Amino acid sequence: MSTKQFDVVVIGGGPGGYIAAIRSAQLGFNVACIDEWKNDKGGPALGGTCTNVGCIPSKALLQSSEHYEQLNHHFADHGITADNVKIDVAKMLARKDQVVKQNNDGIVYLFKKNKVTFFHGRGSFVAAKDGGYELKAGEEVIFAKQVIIATGSNARALPGVPFDEENILSNDGALRVGATPKKLGLIGAGVIGLEMGSVWRRLGAEVTVLEGLPAFLGAVDESVAKEAAKVFKKQGLDIQLGVKVGEVKSSKKGVSVAYTDSKGEAKTLEVDKLIVSIGRVPNTIGLAPEAVGLKLDERGAIVVDDECKTNLPGVWAIGDVVRGPMLAHKAEEEGVAVAERIAGQHGHVNFNTIPWVIYTSPEIAWVGKTEQQLKAEGVAYKAGQFPFLANGRARALGDTTGFVKFLADAKTDEILGVHIIGPFASELISEAVVAMEFKASAEDIARICHAHPSLSEATKEAALAVDKRTLNF
Ligand code: FAD
Ligand code: NAI
Repeated sequence: MSTKQFDVVVIGGGPGGYIAAIRSAQLGFNVACIDEWKNDKGGPALGGTCTNVGCIPSKALLQSSEHYEQLNHHFADHGITADNVKIDVAKMLARKDQVVKQNNDGIVYLFKKNKVTFFHGRGSFVAAKDGGYELKAGEEVIFAKQVIIATGSNARALPGVPFDEENILSNDGALRVGATPKKLGLIGAGVIGLEMGSVWRRLGAEVTVLEGLPAFLGAVDESVAKEAAKVFKKQGLDIQLGVKVGEVKSSKKGVSVAYTDSKGEAKTLEVDKLIVSIGRVPNTIGLAPEAVGLKLDERGAIVVDDECKTNLPGVWAIGDVVRGPMLAHKAEEEGVAVAERIAGQHGHVNFNTIPWVIYTSPEIAWVGKTEQQLKAEGVAYKAGQFPFLANGRARALGDTTGFVKFLADAKTDEILGVHIIGPFASELISEAVVAMEFKASAEDIARICHAHPSLSEATKEAALAVDKRTLNF
């Protein structure tokens, strides 16, 4: 049997990989994608970390738990009361699995529609050959003129404390906890710590988060982080900063975590389950980079230049397995850009306008520079802020927490950063991304007609606040 030949082979079917495959196919290439993820029945489950154990299932659980929280604590303000409110965790998890499956199936459909050949199994380098690469795709050997690596990342474990996914959980186990734990511990108050901590706190768990750094949400604008800390504390999330985690012991009864608190006092946290969310490591397991001399850095990430080119001709790498933020939309943008570069076009990813969202309640979203970054860089800036408390739609919603904050260049008025904490921040941030992509000034946003009543009026007002001329505050 002759070896199957492809113009482009993508290794990994997460958001980076499947989007790269589709865009390559749109550009007229003969494309294959290899992905090894298995569903419960051993079949394929396209979509990678994001679809299977990341973005999508976490948002499904965040939504279910938020409904429960609203019914328990907030609907009474609207005159709606219900007795005997219960949460069926098994049903909630089944719904989450269904949402994941719809996304898995959606990608299978998209591959068919775009004529992308799919191999279910591990992809690895065999050898460089005839100006291209021989690859293993599961049991088959195939040939690729161009290779795009999108093998993603894995959860980082505490040294000497492997995940057992029963008591000591990565993001995978954290999304499959079968009943609300009485006490839940999390190591790391980053994005996963806050999102998963919120889910189980809303469902009734007593949640303690142990964070190594002395500052809360260090990458977030300080005023937003301060507001978030205040709100999360009020919600009952116990976030302890500046701790040093020591021995972690797991038994049938649960997990005990020895740690030193910020004052240097030795303490022990006893919990039923422990989620370790201390960041993620790039994944090249089974890829056999050594077979072709593919260069990795000391963190295990594939070394790429600004255009996602590796040290090998015709081999590209994108998403979590390379430098930059570990975000699905960043992986997707790199996938599109690489496909277009292979086609001789000028694909581009603007790293300055990649939005970040933390899907807690309130949501936190931002794009561009934080105030502390601008200060450190010595940039002269103006700041404007508008609270949701003064926004009619937020009052009608019954959710007036937080604010929108604009940072603009002192001289040119160009928007340098936008920071939102509050309802639907994940949706509101898009306007700021578009504005920054078009190099808009704060004045541009301030002069645009925004629908009334809408949360987006808070964005317009924050832009007005840059020149101290808010109309509603
Ligand atoms: P991945 O999604 O990790 O996909 C890699 C794929 O490659 C996997 O299917 C893997 O099985 C496969 N693979 C690996 N090696 C091989 C091989 N040798 N052969 C064949 N297949 C292979 N990001 C956001 O933007 N928004 C969010 O809300 C968000 N929420 C998250 C929540 C959680 C709990 C977690 C853990 C992550 C979240 N992320 C979120 C991050 C997001 O999931 C990642 O940034 C994104 O999945 C990276 O995409 P990728 O394509 O680079 O890799
Ligand atoms: P993270 O980088 O967001 O947070 C990790 C936290 O753990 C940091 O605050 C760090 O200081 C702390 N930490 C590290 N080592 C520690 C130790 N030994 N003891 C105590 N604290 C320690 O990483 P996280 O939450 O694991 O998420 C991984 C990545 O997944 C994120 O960086 C993000 O890129 C992506 N993600 C994105 C989401 C989104 O976009 N909404 C949601 C969830 C994950």
